[in-house]
Amino acid sequence: MYFLALETSCDETAAAVFDDQPQVLSNVVASQQELHARFQGVVPEIAARAHLRNLLPVIDQALRQANVRLKDVGCIAVHNTPGLVGALLVGVSAAKMLAVALQVPLIAVNHIASHIYACRLAAGRDIFPCVGFVVSGGHTVLFHCEDALTMRLLGGTRDDAAGEAFDKVAAILGLGFPGGPVVEREAANGNPKAFDFPRSFLNDPRLEFSFSGLKTAVLYTLHGQNISKAEPPPAGQLRSDLAASFQQAAFDVLVTKCKQALGQTGLRRLAVGGGVIANKALRSALEAMAAKEGVELFVPPMSLSTDNAAMAALAVEKWRRGEFAPLDLDAEPNFL
Ligand code: KG4
Ligand code: ZN
Repeated sequence: MYFLALETSCDETAAAVFDDQPQVLSNVVASQQELHARFQGVVPEIAARAHLRNLLPVIDQALRQANVRLKDVGCIAVHNTPGLVGALLVGVSAAKMLAVALQVPLIAVNHIASHIYACRLAAGRDIFPCVGFVVSGGHTVLFHCEDALTMRLLGGTRDDAAGEAFDKVAAILGLGFPGGPVVEREAANGNPKAFDFPRSFLNDPRLEFSFSGLKTAVLYTLHGQNISKAEPPPAGQLRSDLAASFQQAAFDVLVTKCKQALGQTGLRRLAVGGGVIANKALRSALEAMAAKEGVELFVPPMSLSTDNAAMAALAVEKWRRGEFAPLDLDAEPNFL
C-alpha cells in the first residue's frame, strides 16, 4: 500500500512516497528560498505561484525516485493546516484532484503534528507519550503528546516564532535570508555574554514565549531608539557578539521551557521538530539538558526537520483509524 503526500504550506514545495509501515521511499523538496531572499522573508503570493509551477514536477520526481507508478498509489495525504492560505490551497487542490482521479482516499494532516511525527519516523520506534516541541519560522509551540494524533497544547509564542526572530535579526545585522544558518555561523565567532538581552518568561512557569522584544533589543542596542533606516549594518566583532548574544538569549528560553514542560507533565521523552533545530548550538544545549534531566531526546535528521512531505507519514496512523477527509476539504491557515 503506497501513500503519496504533498506539502505546500510555506516556501517549500514537497512530495513524498511512503508505504503503510511507514517506510519512506522518497522525499523530494523544492525550496523557494532564492525567490524570497531579496524580500528577506516569505512573500505569500510568490510562494503560492511557485508551488503551482513546482508541484507537478516534484510529484513526478517523488514517484520516480520511489519507483512507484501513480496508478499504484492507494492513498493521498496533504498538509492542509496551518500555513499560508494561498500556498496551502495549491497542495490541497492537487491532493483532492489526485484522490478523485485515482479513486483513492484522501487524508488531511496537520503540519505541526507532522513535525513531531518526524521524530517517530526517524527513530523507527514508538516515542509517545512525549513532550512535542516545534520550533520553526512560523511556530514555537509545546504539546503534551499522548500518541501521534492526540496532542494537548501546553503553550506557544505570543508574537514572533523563534525562527522568525532569527530571520529578523539576520536582516538587522545585514546577514541575508533565511536568517538561521547565517546567524548561527556569525554567532560562532562571537561572545554570547557580550550583551545581556531579555529572556521573556524565563522565570515564569507559564509555557509561553515572546521573541519580538528580543529582536527589538538587538535593534536598539545597535542603533539606539531613534533608528534611521539608512544606517549601515554592523560589521566585525560587534556583529558576531550581537549574533552570539541574541542566539544565547533565544536558546536559554527554548531549553528552559522544554525543561519546564517535562517537569510539569512528568513526561520523560522530548521530541523536537522544525527548522530551528538544524542549529547545532541548540541541539547541544537540548542534549545537555536531556542528559542532566535523564530524559530521552528525539531530534530528526535535517531532511525530516525542515519542511518536507515525508513527515506526513502521520497519515498512516489516520488511515489505520479510518480517519479520511471529505472531498470538500479546505485549507486552514490558522493552527487549531
Ligand atoms: O521548519 P522550517 O523549514 O519552515 C517553517 O515551517 O517555518 O523552518 C524555517 C526556519 C527559518 O526561520 C530559519 O531561519 C530557521 O528555521 N532556521 C534556523 C537554522 N536553520 C533554519 N534557525 C536557527 N539556526 C539554524 N541553523
Ligand atoms: Zn514547518
